[in-house]
Amino acid sequence: MKIKSKRLRKILADIFKRHNLSSSHSFICADALINAELVGAPTHGLSRLKMYCDRINKKVINPKPKIKIKKISQSIAHIDANNSIGFIAGDIGIKQAIKNAKKTGIGLVGIKNSGHYGLSGYYAEKAVKKNLIAFCFTNAPPAIAPHGARKSLFGTNPICFGTPTSSNVPFILDTSVSVINRGKIRVAAKTGKKIPEGVALDKFGKPTIDAKKALKGVQLPIAGFRGSGLAWMVDILSGVLTGGNHAGKVKDPFNDFSGPQNIGHLFIVFKANLFQKNYNQRIKDNIKTIKRLPKIKGIKEIMYPGQNKFKRFKKNSKKEINIPEIIKKDLEILNS
Ligand SMILES: NC(=O)c1ccc[n+]([C@@H]2O[C@H](COP(=O)([O-])OP(=O)(O)OC[C@H]3O[C@@H](n4cnc5c(N)ncnc54)[C@H](O)[C@@H]3O)[C@@H](O)[C@H]2O)c1
Repeated sequence: MKIKSKRLRKILADIFKRHNLSSSHSFICADALINAELVGAPTHGLSRLKMYCDRINKKVINPKPKIKIKKISQSIAHIDANNSIGFIAGDIGIKQAIKNAKKTGIGLVGIKNSGHYGLSGYYAEKAVKKNLIAFCFTNAPPAIAPHGARKSLFGTNPICFGTPTSSNVPFILDTSVSVINRGKIRVAAKTGKKIPEGVALDKFGKPTIDAKKALKGVQLPIAGFRGSGLAWMVDILSGVLTGGNHAGKVKDPFNDFSGPQNIGHLFIVFKANLFQKNYNQRIKDNIKTIKRLPKIKGIKEIMYPGQNKFKRFKKNSKKEINIPEIIKKDLEILNS
């Protein structure tokens, strides 16, 4: 089935409303899921809709959160998201960080008691569109073994940095610290496909290309102990610092309904021209220099992070969204 994004937006918002979200929160969630589809990250799009609804039904996501924003200074805020869907916490958090950055030059926002908020780049882009630089961090359920350990503890904890580029295509480096993201392994397990070598170990600590065994075992971090260190850093910034769960305590959203996830997020947003008034010219020159480098055989263009997603978004926005049969069934059941 193919469907126009405008029509899908209404269907999704109706589903969230049926699950007791307010109208404005329902549209925020619908927009985040559609964006994931349009940028070509379906593992963070409609495939997660049922999970969010299941968590609301099991009362481990609060559909009517009373979100508290504690102002620490003109620049700094601490948000208690009251177990909202992560999309709502993320939306309120990045808007607060942008507001503070516009006022004082820098906005620092820590969030606790949130849930899975989808793609970090989605929030970074909102700041970049206002000519701000953004760092976004979130922790996630155990998937990666710390270097030297045989047990998963860190999430795939993405690191995200965004900056304006002086063109309409933002620079958004948004990367998991696992070799591949967990969503891809889940999809492979569902469809019976193999996963690449070198991305996971089974529960006995042996390398595996079997997705189901990988899900029961551990994912490997990027670049060995360096990636493990980065995952740890994100756990500290998102969890230890904000009051969110950390050290392996974030619950798996798909199969652990024993309580809320209490995920933490951290947004650091600041004006791009804080130190150099001509930042826009400088970043333009920087990108131009790198793009002009001689290329390896087979490479047409040296791209900066975010360029590929931007291209996909533009292309996909003109087309209808493809809904796989399994998701079509979810939509029908959740909307009935
Ligand atoms: N909320 C969560 O718990 C959670 C956990 C993990 C990942 N995620 C999200 O999943 C998404 C996917 O993560 P991923 O690690 O699979 O990303 P990815 O591997 O697709 O891309 C990582 C980065 O590399 C850039 N890139 C890709 N190809 C490039 C090229 N040829 N040249 C230059 N740059 C290139 C991308 O623009 C991106 O910034 C991210 O948006 C992340 O925030 C969310």
